[in-house]
Amino acid sequence: MAAERALAMATCTAPVNIAVIKYWGKRDTDLILPINSSLSVTLHQDQLKTTTTAAASRDFTEDRLWLNGKEVDVGHPRVQACLREVRRLARKRRGGSEDTAALSLSYKIHIASENNFPTAAGLASSAAGYACLVSALARLYGVEEELSEVARQGSGSACRSMFGGFVQWQRGERPDGTDSLALQVAPETHWPELRVLVLVVSGEKKPMGSTVGMQTSVETSPLLKHRAEVVVPERLAQMMRHIRERDFEGFGQLAMRDSNQFHATCLDTFPPIFYLTDLSRHIIALAHRYNAHHGHTKVAYTFDAGPNAVIFALADTVAEFVEVVRRSFPPATNGDQFVRGLPVGSAALSEELVAAVVTEPVPGAVQYILHTKPGPGPQLVDDPSQHLLGADGLPRSRA
Ligand code: DP6
Repeated sequence: MAAERALAMATCTAPVNIAVIKYWGKRDTDLILPINSSLSVTLHQDQLKTTTTAAASRDFTEDRLWLNGKEVDVGHPRVQACLREVRRLARKRRGGSEDTAALSLSYKIHIASENNFPTAAGLASSAAGYACLVSALARLYGVEEELSEVARQGSGSACRSMFGGFVQWQRGERPDGTDSLALQVAPETHWPELRVLVLVVSGEKKPMGSTVGMQTSVETSPLLKHRAEVVVPERLAQMMRHIRERDFEGFGQLAMRDSNQFHATCLDTFPPIFYLTDLSRHIIALAHRYNAHHGHTKVAYTFDAGPNAVIFALADTVAEFVEVVRRSFPPATNGDQFVRGLPVGSAALSEELVAAVVTEPVPGAVQYILHTKPGPGPQLVDDPSQHLLGADGLPRSRA
């Protein structure tokens, strides 16, 4: 009989995703089953990622969790759901036998998780966080099954972060959620020219969380019901076609319309929820003026349950549009750090463009722009020096 291992550790990274057909509303709040399917683009981990290390040891006396270096309550029901489900899959895989060389499922675990972007930036981190937690736990316990169903139980949108590129979350029909899964529509290499600009806005207070907001919408918004039953099924088929054909005009138009309809369902919620701000409306108007000036869809915006704007564009548009944003929201301080992420070339704006598009500048409203592109799904980190936990199972001191 092989001896059980005393300490085991696994580290993974996982990406953020941004929906172009939005998920809003659950039909089952415990299992996190949505009222409609959704579709997203996975963003590149060079710019935005979560890293998570999971360790198990017979010497640990309790389960513990650290987020960005700070210890938090490991008893959170969604963390516990992910842990329970991964262990269930591990048990199933081992056929119920405990006396193998495999890691004991009864050992306590330590988990440490960090983002490579400031949490204060308000970028959706729960999707990357739960996708990463599930990936690291699965690796720790040697589970290789379909894991989007598990990540979904951490946060709905997390199931889409289990794949790279373009990802659909199928709502499924079964009450037990076994068919409510994420599937890759196309890999990140499918549309090499596609770029993403995250406009991180300054100084907004934290809005109402998605979980609470969407339940109020389900209970009170007739528009949301219509959206889930009639609009989304049609849009999903259209969006898949635009992606398959790399049709930016179609993709961008539909992404903007779907973002707008999601925010319309928020306004139709009672009492209403407002995620769009005056600044969001400024950015929306700017994008429409820019597209009108060029006579076609060059940029497309989408907004989630927070104030940051996400802009899709093709690579040949990025430098010009970034300059338009810089002129429209002149940076207050650290102007040299206004553009981060992938390099952006310089562009000279024509007088006609400035006159038509750059109206009423709002200094300092956009803190910075993060330039990124579609990227791959969760990755295993092989290098042991990259573990977030030391040999003692405690977070390594961060530089
Ligand atoms: C507006 O996945 O954060 O970003 O399932 O309650 O954790 P829970 O909600 P969450 O909701 C995301 C909502 C959204 C749209 C989307 O990502 O599809």
